[in-house]
Amino acid sequence: GRSPMLLHISWFTECMAAREPVKIEPRHLLEDALETLSKEASFCGSDGRSLAFIRAASVLRSLPSTLTTIEELNRLPGFGEHSKRVVQEILEDGFSAEVERVTQKEKYQTMKLFTNIFGVGMKTANRWYQEGLRSLGDLRNSQKLKLSKQQEAGLQHYEDLNMPVSRAEADLIAKMVEEVAHSFLPGTIITLAGGFRRGKLSGHDVDILITHAQEGREEGLLSKVIGQLQSQGLILYHDLKRNSYHDAFSPDSKSTSNMDHFERSFSIFRLKVASHIGDIGARDHSPESSKDWKAVRVDLVVTPISQYPYALLGWTGSKHFERELRRFSCNEKKMVLNSHALYDTVEQKILAATCEEDIFLYLGLEYMPPSDRNA
Ligand code: GTP
Ligand code: MN
Ligand code: MN
Repeated sequence: GRSPMLLHISWFTECMAAREPVKIEPRHLLEDALETLSKEASFCGSDGRSLAFIRAASVLRSLPSTLTTIEELNRLPGFGEHSKRVVQEILEDGFSAEVERVTQKEKYQTMKLFTNIFGVGMKTANRWYQEGLRSLGDLRNSQKLKLSKQQEAGLQHYEDLNMPVSRAEADLIAKMVEEVAHSFLPGTIITLAGGFRRGKLSGHDVDILITHAQEGREEGLLSKVIGQLQSQGLILYHDLKRNSYHDAFSPDSKSTSNMDHFERSFSIFRLKVASHIGDIGARDHSPESSKDWKAVRVDLVVTPISQYPYALLGWTGSKHFERELRRFSCNEKKMVLNSHALYDTVEQKILAATCEEDIFLYLGLEYMPPSDRNA
């Protein structure tokens, strides 16, 4: 018979095709509850438990309509006992006592606050918590704390960076990048990836892929683009990384690591905004409140055209979809998928692709458009 994952993916595709675009409140409640428990588990270092809750939330997200009875739950894949119990509780009482208890926990609140800082991961957040730090003020006022440049920028622009980025803002930034790129290298192809490519109306950052139809022409372009934007005062923070696929990526590395080797920059842009737009003015009454710009996180990734379809698939997400797809490739197809290539471990060869459709074909899956990848 067909593998559970394949069934899951095709079941999932059908559901996504049928779903209504509007989020209904109860469903939102259920997903949020499971996501809270997932976060809490990861803060406690239980990655397996965290993933189980993410899976359950993802299943709910892909349902065509709101779940109303626990019986419907029993027919769904991917629901463990714990997730079922929580959902049942919310269906019956309108809330989950366990989830409420978690959100009240000081550690949970602090970890959530700290890990929302650009450049701060679980380990750092946990260390700060153990040291007794509890608020952004504590971090800002601490004398002995050693912050990286990235964390400093993250802390400085915390409020802006935790405001959603709109589709219009994302388009504006892509346009800015495109104009500058074209001034250096006509024909540069700029693609908005990440959540926006999946049709989301807002996101936490802007993910941009940069390539050129002629292999190799893209090399060195990013530093010029960043340099130019920087001289225009449009960059608040950047951290340029050279590509490393020449040395680090080889067919026999067989690495399933999610790290990729593209030239890239995880940066913060200074985006001009009309001062009456958004809640910037309403947030407080300090002189800052009249500022006419907003800090926006931007991920810029440069890829040679030969790897572009894989980079596009990898950077479109969602994270959970990527994780499931990679797991499926590996377990069911004995192929290693990452943002650079697909490697067939049986045939011992790299499978070249000219578009995303090719990759789905190699994996024996029906093509899923980006809007179906919101798992
Ligand atoms: P929001 O930005 O929160 O709206 O959602 P998003 O889906 O765009 O998330 P995010 O920007 O974090 O990531 C977009 C996609 O890029 C996801 O599928 C990630 O798996 C992928 N991604 C992010 N960072 C990396 C990275 O360092 N390496 C690789 N290979 N992929 C990454
Ligand atoms: Mn994103
Ligand atoms: Mn991103």
